[in-house]
Amino acid sequence: MFEINSGIAVITLNAPPVNSLGAALRLQIVTDIEQALANPEVKGIILVGNARAFSAGADVSEFGTPLQRQEPVLAGVLTCVQASPKPVVAAISGVALGGGLELAMACHARVALDSAKLGLPEINLGLIPGAGGTQALPRLAGLATALSMIQSGTPQTAKQLAGTGLLDEVVSDGLIEAACRRARALAQSDLPLPKVADRVLDEVQVQAFVSAAREKLTPRQRLQPAYSAIFEALRATASPWPTGLSRERELFLQLQASPQSRALRHQFFAERDAAKLPDSLQVEPRAVNSVAIIGAGTMGAGIAICALDAGFKVILLEQDEAALQRGHQRVSDHYQTRVSSGKMQASVAAAALANLMPSTDWNQLALADVVVEAVFEDLAVKQEVFKKIDAHARPGAVLATNTSYLDVDLIANSTGRAHDVLGLHFFSPANVMKLLEVVRGTQTAAEVVATGMELGKKLKKLPVLTGNAFGFIGNRIYNAYRNQCEFMLEDGAWPEEVDAALQAFGFAMGPFAVADLSGLDIAWRMRKSQAATRHPDERYVAILDHLCEQDRLGRKTSAGYYTYVDGKQVQTTDATVRDIIARASAQRGITRRTLSAGEIQRRALLSMVKEAALLLRAGVASRASDIDVVLVQGYGFPRWEGGPVFWARQQSRLELAQELQSLAQAGGHGFGVADLTVLL
Ligand code: 3HC
Ligand code: NAI
Repeated sequence: MFEINSGIAVITLNAPPVNSLGAALRLQIVTDIEQALANPEVKGIILVGNARAFSAGADVSEFGTPLQRQEPVLAGVLTCVQASPKPVVAAISGVALGGGLELAMACHARVALDSAKLGLPEINLGLIPGAGGTQALPRLAGLATALSMIQSGTPQTAKQLAGTGLLDEVVSDGLIEAACRRARALAQSDLPLPKVADRVLDEVQVQAFVSAAREKLTPRQRLQPAYSAIFEALRATASPWPTGLSRERELFLQLQASPQSRALRHQFFAERDAAKLPDSLQVEPRAVNSVAIIGAGTMGAGIAICALDAGFKVILLEQDEAALQRGHQRVSDHYQTRVSSGKMQASVAAAALANLMPSTDWNQLALADVVVEAVFEDLAVKQEVFKKIDAHARPGAVLATNTSYLDVDLIANSTGRAHDVLGLHFFSPANVMKLLEVVRGTQTAAEVVATGMELGKKLKKLPVLTGNAFGFIGNRIYNAYRNQCEFMLEDGAWPEEVDAALQAFGFAMGPFAVADLSGLDIAWRMRKSQAATRHPDERYVAILDHLCEQDRLGRKTSAGYYTYVDGKQVQTTDATVRDIIARASAQRGITRRTLSAGEIQRRALLSMVKEAALLLRAGVASRASDIDVVLVQGYGFPRWEGGPVFWARQQSRLELAQELQSLAQAGGHGFGVADLTVLL
């Protein structure tokens, strides 16, 4: 069904919320176009979406199912559009992504609202565009723009893209009228309809461009086949259109069947599921307009920045003027750098800073709808702070702790309103990292959990609900992983071998390089605080303690597991470190042996899998996919491996169970064997 506006058929794509091109929408487009072609009153056609989306692209949930192959398939829809004897114009508002942009490029012209966002994000799903995107975009916008959009997957606004050749017109309003005008002009013109397929690129230029660009792939990109496939597809732009199109299709289908793409698609849906609360918690959140942050250190300042960016009024509270001054400076320096590097307009920065109220007066807390505590990681200090919060915050305010490991219940119980208390565990740097663990204490009210999740979304975070248990989801699993890596040092590996193996698997950094970066003293302090309760038979690796005793605290002291010269890591560990490690092996009676990269990777991953199973069984994580989101978003687990649970599901069950059994034997007291049925 379509309306006719002065001889132009206005076809409104109708697949809410974001017009993904599933079977029903594909059929609607082709049917409407056929009817418009058959109607003599119609001289031209425009395709229009809704305010949110022209189209978000192919329906990813159909991938690998018969629906994807159901006629008309996407390629058929695009051919129908391009071959239409009456002009078809895309009127783009909201997003035009992936197949959505490919649909627009198949049209004879494109008109967009300046705010519209256009992109080819298939790379984020381990794919290349598969409906002509790699062939059409270079022909319309040039090879450099096309490569940058396909390789980054990042959408750009129509305003940014004006002048690239992709868009015929960019308007600030009156989109439908402008598109109709253009369709009418094309219908009245004597020239043949402009088709992207008719454009030809110069073969020598294409080959030279592709060869030079390919050299620039990073090591992490080289681990992902989709990045190489982009170049294969771009090379084919020198061929006639049908040849290029079939080469692109072939590459797309290969990638779609690859484990990496399946893993990335799993992450896409897992991230969206993570933000959804179970029915019992689906209650109206409390209104939030102002946020108070206590402690303006590394985390407090970062949290303040994201709250200011989201338009909240922010009260930043410190224990004394000097600390407040430092915290305030951190926040203003951030905005100054954004402005001087051209990433933010001065007026936007000024508006954000105008909402900041630095203070040492606890009475100011009464103004806040949410209070986020980010003081030192010390239970007694936090309990003291929460007593003061209880005395000053208004009734009904949500009270949050940013603790990394501490028991949220013990903190909540220091107030007279434990039902208002929850954990909001931000990651460092808090204004950059998307992950937010929302920790539900034993007494936290449903409404307070809902407010925490909603606040996370407003802060543009990816909130994941977790129960209250040591380290919540992320730090708990990461701890298990790091412990296993330390076992491997005692068993015979050097830190650089462990780091290299895990980087080769795809981790952004190896665990020992990460430990040096965060500072070994943090872990050292935590270990000391746990010493009294540690089981005597636990396999406890004291290498880190010995490093700290020698004042090797990591990067900040230019020595930790590694040494650092002018801030740069020396790749091989030095004699002192090797001596500490070799002595640890000898003390445990271990004859050091070489561990292969494969063994290192499996042991590290299995330790995560085991902990994931325990967390699920205990109900700390409510969905297996939440664990994958946390590890990928917060801990550098390679996204294209899907997360530890997704990884486990790709392995043989029998082998997993056997390997976990032998790890338990080598792991000492407390390692235990988890029941994997909860995961697989
Ligand atoms: N396929 C299937 N479902 C999709 C989808 C898609 N392409 N895009 C979005 N959705 C779904 C989401 O899963 C979500 O469903 P839910 O409400 O049941 O959880 C709903 O639409 C709304 O999405 P968001 O919650 O993400 O809404 P936002 O407003 O935050 O974001 C968006 C909207 C920017 C469109 C974002 O969803 C997005 O980036 N989508 C993916 C776009 C994409 O990758 N397109 C390429 C697909 S592959 C392709 O086109 C291949 C082709 O070249 C052949
Ligand atoms: P930090 O040491 O940088 O900052 C703590 C700030 O709290 C200091 O500025 C201090 O003056 C202030 N403070 C201490 N006692 C106070 C009190 N009674 N009243 C008001 N202010 C007080 O610490 P950081 O790194 O910011 O950590 C804060 C919290 O965030 C800790 O619980 C930590 O475990 C957690 N966290 C830290 C992460 C990190 O990577 N640094 C990551 C995630 C959570």
